[in-house]
This record gives sequence, structure tokens and C-alpha cells, in this order.
Amino acid sequence: MVSSALPYANGHMHMGHLVEYIQSDIWARFQKLRGHQCTFVCAADAHGTPIMIKARQEGVAPEVMVTRVAKEQHDDLKAFDVAFDNFHTTHSAENQQLVYRMFEGLRAAGHIYIKTIEQAYDDQEKMFLPDRFVKGTCPRCKTEEQYGDACESCGATYSPNDLIDPVSVLSGSTPVWKESDHYFFRLSNFESQLRTWMKSAELHQHITSKLEEWFEAGLQDWDISRDAPYFGFKIPGTEDKYFYVWLDAPVGYLASFLHYCNRHDDLDFEEYWTPGHDTEVYHFIGKDIVYFHTLFWPAVLEGSGFRTPNSVFAHGFLTVNGKKMSKSRGTFIKARTYIDNLDPSHLRYYYAAKLGPGMDDVDLNLDDFVARVNSDLVGKLVNIASRCAGFISKQFDGALSPKLDDPELFSEFVDASEAIAGHYERREYSKAMRIIMTLADTANRYIEDKKPWVMSKDKGKGGEVQLVCTQGLNMFRTLMVYLAPVVPALAGKTRVLFQEDSWSWSSASNPMLGTALTEFKPLLTRVEPEQVNKMVEQSTATTDVRNTGSADTDTDEITIDDFTKVDLRVARIERAEPVDGADKLLKLTLDLGGESRTVFAGIKAAYEPQALEGRLVVAVANLKPRKMRFGMSEGMVLAAGPGGEEIFLLSADAGASPGMRVK
Ligand code: MSP
Ligand code: ZN
Repeated sequence: MVSSALPYANGHMHMGHLVEYIQSDIWARFQKLRGHQCTFVCAADAHGTPIMIKARQEGVAPEVMVTRVAKEQHDDLKAFDVAFDNFHTTHSAENQQLVYRMFEGLRAAGHIYIKTIEQAYDDQEKMFLPDRFVKGTCPRCKTEEQYGDACESCGATYSPNDLIDPVSVLSGSTPVWKESDHYFFRLSNFESQLRTWMKSAELHQHITSKLEEWFEAGLQDWDISRDAPYFGFKIPGTEDKYFYVWLDAPVGYLASFLHYCNRHDDLDFEEYWTPGHDTEVYHFIGKDIVYFHTLFWPAVLEGSGFRTPNSVFAHGFLTVNGKKMSKSRGTFIKARTYIDNLDPSHLRYYYAAKLGPGMDDVDLNLDDFVARVNSDLVGKLVNIASRCAGFISKQFDGALSPKLDDPELFSEFVDASEAIAGHYERREYSKAMRIIMTLADTANRYIEDKKPWVMSKDKGKGGEVQLVCTQGLNMFRTLMVYLAPVVPALAGKTRVLFQEDSWSWSSASNPMLGTALTEFKPLLTRVEPEQVNKMVEQSTATTDVRNTGSADTDTDEITIDDFTKVDLRVARIERAEPVDGADKLLKLTLDLGGESRTVFAGIKAAYEPQALEGRLVVAVANLKPRKMRFGMSEGMVLAAGPGGEEIFLLSADAGASPGMRVK
């Protein structure tokens, strides 16, 4: 089972989402092409406060809005050839049944407890307010209009009751603080299981380092309930408490799979999800939701008796022309707007050419997009076919010759098969694309050398023309088999050309000889810059606001004023000591000129503690103290490097004295 993250059912699909859905679709298609039984599932993420409020604003029941939006989103994805075996919804009987089953399992095993917490409450709207529904002035930098969880100006994180002059986003009234009983999941019970899972899942280094940080900070129990009014599943045995959307959302993967199993006799849901069975489960997600998928989710599964995922694959975020998507720049491009102007195969190829296995952001540079697609897909690949197919249909009535002109050259194409497959398997799509395009160059060079257009003028060379074009077309066909997961529409047209019903990965190694072609039709057109410009124009015009993505605003830049807020001081390391139970941390006691600070720094692999004592370093003096598992960290020391042993502390000049300001 392969899943991609469930889109919130309250907005439009955009180019950022497509990174995820295209990446996972390529992988699922690849697994199927290799002959695996692979079920690719997704669903609408239907619950939660933002969806409830949006539906209220539209004046419809949330069920109605969710159904409509989910259909639009699914249609958009289908237009990009994203082919789920099942697209279900978290607001379904299957999901409710599974959520209840897991909750009862967790409760019976002692992983659930109830605790009273205090929360912002809107007395006018009669509802508790999530952090993002409270706005006010940042307690640190005094910027107005900040959300209740973090300041977009100075980056401080806090809770809504730290805000100065807080107001409810819903009614504009001042929230009051009210107590309520909440259900908590004891994540802290699962540390050792999670560590074991993390190793077996062979997670990418990018995820492992995140997990290490979270382990070091200490696992916090998880609040899984919300008070009415809420759009979600009611907690059994209560009248006014609901499961938090993030509890039931990942269960939606199973619900979609169950819904599919109920219609397909060859899959047994219970067997699939029982620990120890020989089935495989993989989740594709974005980097913003790693915490939910690598801590909460495996712990919930483990605690309720289900199998855990084999792995979780997280990708980075999309930037357009090097920056976050922005409405004002016209780079917040909806999937629909793209479809109205361009060919989905172009984007699928471009993303594949850019994607690797890690969480690095992916940049859609619009000029590069035009250049790359035209040069690789049209200029190199499709060109092979268009140079050869005409001769075969005109001079040989569509018949391919019974043998290849250069079997050795063809073997080069076949020999690349496992290297390409390995890259797909490890999600190194960019490397797979590079091999394929290098082979396309080879094929073009072959045709260039043979010049069938010259040969064809010479009556005596007819047989040779057929051989050369058969060779060219078969090299093209082999590359199209390799590319089928990325550009299924082009692969489909190629199969029609060769009169084939289906392909498997091994089709690439078996040339088509002595068979007939259908009439050749152009496979793909060039991208014209005007089409891209039109798309950007249409995107600048849209004013539709989406409220789910952290990526969708323009807040990636900081001003020079923001930067100068960082108070850098010379500090002397008075003591440096290892921390019991922490693999990476050193506890530093800093002298900041009469003031002593404790700082936990992740530099243990790079420095011997004793060697640090007495050293002058640069410290951030105005960082808000942060509670870590081993104590309060009251600042930060500056260092740079790729990590691990290669971390280099910035040194202050020997003549400097602690407390001096660093400019
Ligand atoms: N509903 C949750 C996921 C629940 S999974 C049990 C959610 N929805 S989302 O609609 O906001 O995002 C869906 C997926 O798209 C997520 O994996 C998210 O990381 C990804 N992306 C959303 N915006 C993105 C970019 N700008 N760039 C790349 N991926 C992005 O999160
Ligand atoms: Zn601030």
C-alpha cells in the first residue's frame, strides 16, 4: 500500500500539492510496472475547525462542502494523471469504525488519560479557539496582528494567552480562559518502540535528524480531543468531545484501503494490517507533517495492535522562481490554471527531473521549465520517434524490420534497466531522468550518423532505411517504457503506435521486431513561453484565499530590522560537559560578561568538552529560553557546517571580552 497525504477539503489544489501527488504517483506506477501488487490510496481530509468555519461562511453543511471540494481536488489530480486506486474520505463509516477501534485499543492498553487544560474561549461564539483563531500583538517584538501560536515577524513561539490584547478571529471579542477536560495520548510510553521503528524504517537522514532532535527534547503527550462545536467524530461515551482532526486523518489511509478491500476479493484488510505479515506500507508526505507521521502515527498503530509503516518518505516544499509561492507575484498557481494552459506531462517530467529522496525544497523555475521540457522531452526524446516513424509508415507500410541494425547498441539501452529501476525505487528520480536523457542523446547521435533521410533517396538502400528506423524506434520505445511512470500519457500514445496493450518493466528489454506500427501522430508539443506568461497572469488575478498552507504566504523574507534584532555577544565557555542520555548534546556554561547562561548545544560529535573550556565564542543573547528534556537552554552559540563531526564554532578574537557586542 502506498499513500499520499490527504488534502484538506477546503481549498484548491496548487502546484505545491502536485509535488507530492506526482512524486507518489510515479512511485506507485513504477511498483506496478515492476509487477508488484500495489494499491495507491488517498482520501479527503474532511474534519477540523478550519473546515467547519469555512463551511459556515459558505452557509452550507460541512459534509456538503467537503464532498464538493474533494471531487474538485480529485478531478484536478486525475487531470495530472495521478491515478489513485481509491480516493475516499475521512468522513466515512470505514474511518469512524477504525478510529473507534484504535481508540478503544489504546484506552484498554492504558495509553489514554484525561487532564484538565485551560484554553482560549470565545464567549460570543460559544466555542473554544484553536491557537490560530486568536490574534494579537506579539509579546516579544510587539508586531500587531499575530496568530496565537507564533509571531511571523520575529519567529517567537508562544501560546495564545501570551499575546498582548488578544482577540478572537471569529467574533472580534476578547477571549476568556476556560477549563475543559481533554483526552491525552501517552506518546511518552513509546520512545523505545519508536527508536526501534525508526531504525527498521530506514528513514532518510533528513527525517532521522529531526527525530533525534525531538527525542532529545523529550516526547510530549498528545492532546487528541477537541470540544464541541467541532466537525469530526464524537469520542465514545462523551456528549461534547470530538477526536482532533490529526488523530483521525492518518487513519483515513486505512479507511480508504479498507473501502477498497471491501470491493476487491484479492486483498484481505485484517491480514494486511496485522503485525508480522508479509505486506508493505509506505507513506508519502511533505516535510511540514513529519511529526505526525513519524511519532504520533507509528505510536498509535503500535499501541492499538496494528502493523507500522515500512517507511515514510518526506519531500520538501515547492518554490517558484526561487521564492515561496506568492499571489502578488502570480506564482501561487492552481492546478486548474496550469491545466488550462499547459500539458500535465510537461510538469510531471519537470518535477521528476528535480526530485530526490530528501526534504530539500524543489524549485519550479519557469524559464528553466520551458527550456528543459523543450530540450529534453521534445528535442531529445520525441524527436527520435518523429525522425524514424515517417519512413516506416510511408515506405514500408508501417512494417518494422525483423531484426535490429545494431543489437549491441540496443543492449546498452537494456543494460541501463536495473540502474534506472534502482533510482526509481530509492526516489532518486532526477538521477533516473539523467540516465534516460543521456541514452536519448545516444539514440539521436546514431540517427544523425546513419542519416536515414539521405539513405532513403538512394533506391538501393531501402532495406537499410527500414533497419535504421526500426533500431531508432526501438531505442525510443525502450526509453518510453522507462519513462512510463513519469509520463503515462506519452507512454500510452507510444503503446498505441506499436499496437501494444500493456507494458511491464521487462518490455524495455524486448524489442518490437517484424510487427507493424499504426500511423504516427505527434506525441507532444513544445511549451511556448506565452503559455507560461498567460498562466502567471491568470494566477495574479485570482484572489481566492486558502487557509491551510503555511507555505502560501510571503513570509520567507526577513528585513534588515528583523536581522538586527539578533543580539550577538562574545561569550566565554566556562564549563563544557556531556549530558547523561543525550548523544549529541554538550551542556555549556557561558560567561556573557558577568552574566552566566546555560546552553545545550548539539556539538558533541565535533568537540571534546575539555578543549572548549576557556574558548571565546559568539552567542545569541536574546533567544527566548527553551525548555529541553535536560533543562532550560538559555541561548545559542554560533557554529556552521553540514553537521555531525563537521560543525565549526565561530570564535571571537582573543582580544575580545565576554559581553561585548558582535557586529
Ligand atoms: N491534511 C493534511 C495531511 C493529512 S495526512 C494524514 C495536509 N493537507 S494539505 O492539503 O495542507 O497538504 C497536503 C500535502 O501537500 C502535504 O503532504 C503537504 O506537505 C503538501 N504540500 C502542501 N503545500 C505544499 C507546497 N507548497 N510544496 C510541497 N508540498 C506541499 O497537510
Ligand atoms: Zn514578534
